[in-house]
Amino acid sequence: MRAIKSKNTKMEVKLAKELWRRGYRYRKNNKDVFGKPDLTFKKLKIAIFVDGEFFHGKDWSTQKYRIKSNREFWWKKIEGNIARDKKVNAQLRNNGWKVLRFWSKEIHKEFEICLKKIEEEIKKSKMLKYSEVKELLNINVTKPEQTELAYLTHYLQSQGNASANHFKEPATEYIKDSDFDLQVNEKDPNQITIPIKWDVPYPPPKKPKFKFIDLFAGIGGFRLAFQKLGGKCVFTSEWNHFAQKTYEANFGEVPFGDITKIDEENVPDHDILIAGFPCQPFSIAGVSKKNALGRQHGFKDETQGTLFFDIVRILEKKKPKTFLLENVKNLVSHDKGKTFIVIREALKELGYNIHYKVLDGKYYVPQHRERILIVGFREDLFKGKEEFEFPEKEEVPYVLEDILKKEVEDKYTLSDKLWKYLQDYAAKHKAKGNGFGFGLANMDGVTRTLSARYYKDGSEILIPQEGKNPRRLTPRECARLQGYPDNFLIPVSDNQAYKQFGNSVVSPLMEAVGENIVIEIEKLNGRNSSESDPVRSGVTDGLL
Ligand SMILES: C[S@@+](CC[C@H](N)C(=O)[O-])C[C@H]1O[C@@H](n2cnc3c(N)ncnc32)[C@H](O)[C@@H]1O
Repeated sequence: MRAIKSKNTKMEVKLAKELWRRGYRYRKNNKDVFGKPDLTFKKLKIAIFVDGEFFHGKDWSTQKYRIKSNREFWWKKIEGNIARDKKVNAQLRNNGWKVLRFWSKEIHKEFEICLKKIEEEIKKSKMLKYSEVKELLNINVTKPEQTELAYLTHYLQSQGNASANHFKEPATEYIKDSDFDLQVNEKDPNQITIPIKWDVPYPPPKKPKFKFIDLFAGIGGFRLAFQKLGGKCVFTSEWNHFAQKTYEANFGEVPFGDITKIDEENVPDHDILIAGFPCQPFSIAGVSKKNALGRQHGFKDETQGTLFFDIVRILEKKKPKTFLLENVKNLVSHDKGKTFIVIREALKELGYNIHYKVLDGKYYVPQHRERILIVGFREDLFKGKEEFEFPEKEEVPYVLEDILKKEVEDKYTLSDKLWKYLQDYAAKHKAKGNGFGFGLANMDGVTRTLSARYYKDGSEILIPQEGKNPRRLTPRECARLQGYPDNFLIPVSDNQAYKQFGNSVVSPLMEAVGENIVIEIEKLNGRNSSESDPVRSGVTDGLL
């Protein structure tokens, strides 16, 4: 048998020497670290092992049969070694270590690749976590319009990409004014980069497929859906600072505030504009009539002074390939249908081909929630040939019981006073022939629509309880009712949380619609892979 050498093997020495030459300082065979790794970077919690093929059982399932003599002894020994290596890996990883194992032959034949793997790991471990940056730079949403935090976090999310230029200056000022101990880029002192490990539930994707913006973002129901589809959010706006707080806790980004104050020039290029905008009437006096100068008003002009106009001006300036707008079902009948006509025509005037449909969230979560979705495709790019269709489902996959918690605190049970009030109120309206009143939910069915007023008395969705007054849903249950996963953080009071989830969207439904939009964008990119979008560079520009 070959000579046994477990420490300072030739390949181990070769690796150690080169790392030392490159300026990395480690300890060899550190007894204080479990498994006594060949090299350890203790502060960075990186353990490196260089394993000999024979003793550590490389390709053991086949190699074991090549042993001819003393088989029983060697099988037992090597299998013991394999089990021990596994245990060492597991324990180190449990304790937060990163374990890198190389075969001796890898070091011999693919030396540079091995070194690169180690260097990448060192670089990653040196990165600050977002939670650390957050504390050091005081990223804490406490009041409305903390625009400096929006610039800073948008910059941190986009650094190294084309969109970063939109946020760089104010972000750099903010960082320079803080006590943050910055390692300024030696080549370009004006270029501040802070490599970050994103320890938030929904970090930005590493290799995004497309870019989108999230307007009237609320707590990010759309962002959740479109990030899952591989998109990178490059801009977001939401003026309620409680919603901003929830958004930041989950995505690591503070939205910009009032959309009416946002200059469209400051919005980075994107492929999809997304907005669940509030519904407001238009005074359509001027539509189709000649104005004082004898010119016809466009529909776009009719939207002036409304929040829809802010969407219009961003669409006009940025010309994204597509958009997705969401609103309450009766947008179509609002103001005798005039509101919808203005919206539709204004979008067409901007050069988009429009698709719209009312969809129900109950095919994705146990909640009846009908919303109109309007999807637009740029006519000059898609030539009206997009094969987009809204998803159609017929089966209701969940019932209310599926999302309820087993144990719920007493505070969610209605007080006798409130329960009596709700019953009296319902009885009064019933006597008058009205259908108003509370809604005792059917456990085997879907609920009524969760609204932003749920925090007041919870009357639209009450959970019956045996021997007790009914209870409201908890904020977590409301999150589930909108399709939010349980790792979505809720850092605000119950009342704020009810408002936030009530205002939000059935995220999985938005994902299903988004999937069909993304398919069309990908098809377009496939068609245009040789020629790029004449107006904007988008998915294909590689500058994410
Ligand atoms: C229907 S909610 C959209 C919720 C969002 N889709 C979600 O998933 O949470 C509309 C949002 O627009 C915000 N909003 C209203 N006016 C605004 C303005 N002028 N600027 C920015 N946000 C605004 C509201 O605070 C509200 O959160």
